[in-house]
Amino acid sequence: MALPDSFIQELLSRNDIETVVSPYVRLKRRGRNLVGLCPFHGEKSPSFTLYPDTASFYCFGCGAGGDVITFIKRIENLDYLDAVRFLADRAGMKMPEDNKDDAVGRLRLRVLQANRDAARFFHSVLYSPAGKAGLDYYYGRGYTDHTIRRFGLGYAPDDFHTLRDYMRGKGYKDEELIAAFLSKRSANGGHLYDIFRNRVIIPIIDIRGNVIAFGGRVLDDSKPKYLNSSDTLVFKKTNNLFALNFAKAAAKGKLILCEGYMDVIALHQAGFQNAVAALGTSFTAEHARLIARYAEEVTLVFDADAAGQKGTKRAIGLLRDTGVDIRVIAIPDGKDPDEFIRLHGPERFKLLMERAANDVEYRLIELGRQYPLSTADGRVLYLREASRLLAELPSPIERDVYAGKLSAELSVSKDAILAQIEGNRKRQQKQQQGRQLSQIVRRDEETLRRTNPEAQKHPRAVSAEEGLLGMLILNPDYIGAAAAKLPPEQMVTAFNRRLYERLLERHGKDMMVDLPFLAADFSEEEMAYITRMVREARERVNSPGEVEQYADVIIGEHGLLGLEKPEELSAESIQRILDTMRGTRQ
Ligand code: UTP
Ligand code: MN
Repeated sequence: MALPDSFIQELLSRNDIETVVSPYVRLKRRGRNLVGLCPFHGEKSPSFTLYPDTASFYCFGCGAGGDVITFIKRIENLDYLDAVRFLADRAGMKMPEDNKDDAVGRLRLRVLQANRDAARFFHSVLYSPAGKAGLDYYYGRGYTDHTIRRFGLGYAPDDFHTLRDYMRGKGYKDEELIAAFLSKRSANGGHLYDIFRNRVIIPIIDIRGNVIAFGGRVLDDSKPKYLNSSDTLVFKKTNNLFALNFAKAAAKGKLILCEGYMDVIALHQAGFQNAVAALGTSFTAEHARLIARYAEEVTLVFDADAAGQKGTKRAIGLLRDTGVDIRVIAIPDGKDPDEFIRLHGPERFKLLMERAANDVEYRLIELGRQYPLSTADGRVLYLREASRLLAELPSPIERDVYAGKLSAELSVSKDAILAQIEGNRKRQQKQQQGRQLSQIVRRDEETLRRTNPEAQKHPRAVSAEEGLLGMLILNPDYIGAAAAKLPPEQMVTAFNRRLYERLLERHGKDMMVDLPFLAADFSEEEMAYITRMVREARERVNSPGEVEQYADVIIGEHGLLGLEKPEELSAESIQRILDTMRGTRQ
């Protein structure tokens, strides 16, 4: 569906890019721009830049870029229309005659409705005779009715068709139930049956209050313990954290991360309403970024077993990249936070929270366990590893404090330890800089190769084309002059020709050509490329004279296209030319 310019214009005026981006990125003003840590890749120093004057963003670290719609597309994982819808919702605008042929959008809506109805169904069963087993299970774990209601907990009856029949009765089509991961078709075809049976049901709710998925736990020790919704149109498990909808309100900059649904629910009931967990998957970089969006400090409370320690290490690594402060609690007694609270009560857990080690202490303790510190050899090995770990600390004060601790612990001079840390730091910094630089160059090159594959062959033409196009988007009033001087066929590379044609066409119809108006016709990667042209054009002189000059270069380069270039000559023809020049051949 093509949306009218007037609608997009209104949408943009009500969705100022700074306000839209700021919940996702902590922005700091720098000159006329704003900068922050890029939400699209892990980084420690800010390379994400927001340009209020062109309503665009660009990340110098990963090459992500675009307008406000492209930003929402990427960060919320939406297609163009849904990103527009998201922004319209945000600004309280109605979509122009909601799209009739947007089949995916409609199905997504149906899946959300189905999930909501199913959640209500599971919850109401709980308080009926058919749900007694489920309710007993929750009571057995010490959950109150208040907790059950707040989390919308439910029970799926021990039957293959109860939910299916209920949902059909509410008008849902079989395909919709399948798309929602509520029902499945039997292998021999045809027959539709419920996926969740005889399990207590935990609805997963996103930060906008939509029921997006379910987790179902068995009532006994049978396997698998949990059955979770697969990814659907409305759910991607690596992008969501359980209970974030509640936790974000309670967070005040601090979140607790644990492993299980049941830990989260127990923590909330005990008054720690800022607890979240990953959903039936190990912790990912996306989870880490999600946490960093809502918190400055996160406390990890994983299970006490080996898997929990491994998970803690993994999460620390990923969270470190986002710059949040990390604290770690090792559960001293009981297998997980849920059991600890049941054994010792919320007060004791609060004490644990207060005494949580920061991640460095935690890792030093873990490291200390691996070496025999009673022997000189063990201490040397430990010290070597520990100084490597401490070298990663950005703050010199922190490094000094831990060097002091180690020195006292191992009776080694503090200066010697600091010197070793410093050596490691230099080495690590050099490695990292090298890695970052080659990453940036590689990413930019990859984007360019994919969006404009001809760029490498025609560097001079491309640089003029990019200069011209960037300038035209910034100064649409120059488009007329450009059109008169440079017909689109003269553009050397196909991508830039397409963009140029689009600009001329829109301008000819008196339509806007700012970045957001282009987002409908170009992919996210293409938008990043276009945004880069605009960003670079901002830094240069923009005048009608420049238009002429760029056009001349492009026309000149285009004229060379048909001619054979020296590097394209074969070895034989070169030989022939040389021979002729030397007059050795007649
Ligand atoms: P746990 O086994 O620690 O589960 O797995 P739990 O939630 O603490 O449950 P209780 O206390 O034993 O009843 C941690 C998380 O790993 C995922 C779930 O998200 C669970 O909450 N998981 C675990 C699965 O997805 N499937 C499984 O079979 C097991
Ligand atoms: Mn548990």
